[in-house]
Amino acid sequence: MNTNSHRREFMARGLLATAGLLVLNPLKNAFAENYAASKAEPDLLARINRAKDPGTLRGLEVGHAPQIKSPDAVKAGEPFEVEVAVGQKLHEMIPTHYIDWIDLYAGEIFLTKMVLTPNLTQPVFKTMLVLRESAALRAVEHCNIHGLWEGTKRIEVV
Ligand SMILES: [Fe+2]
Repeated sequence: MNTNSHRREFMARGLLATAGLLVLNPLKNAFAENYAASKAEPDLLARINRAKDPGTLRGLEVGHAPQIKSPDAVKAGEPFEVEVAVGQKLHEMIPTHYIDWIDLYAGEIFLTKMVLTPNLTQPVFKTMLVLRESAALRAVEHCNIHGLWEGTKRIEVV
């Protein structure tokens, strides 16, 4: 075998290996699927999305609508625990499709922010709050593919 035939064989093997990676690489396939999903509903990126019926989540709402768990009523000035989870079924956290961050507000007042890293975190957190008057808690999260989503829960201060 001369130098040119070695070079041709080397190039052919390289092309085959590259083609194999393109077909079998799960990250690339996931990206392609997610890209297709985002193209299918471009309006998602131009608004804050909310579940149409928070009691019966459907489609993308299941994995994106923030869920707030807390007491329905609390005493003024007394700390209480709140849990925020992205989705009824937690949203996936893979490098091509993940939740960037979750913000929590009491009405218009910013309370806290959770910044997330794909693969190493899950889109859920607990924190302690202290309210002095009744408020609607609002959790807003950002999915890198499906945009902004908001969930709310009213808490009465008694
Ligand atoms: Fe998403």
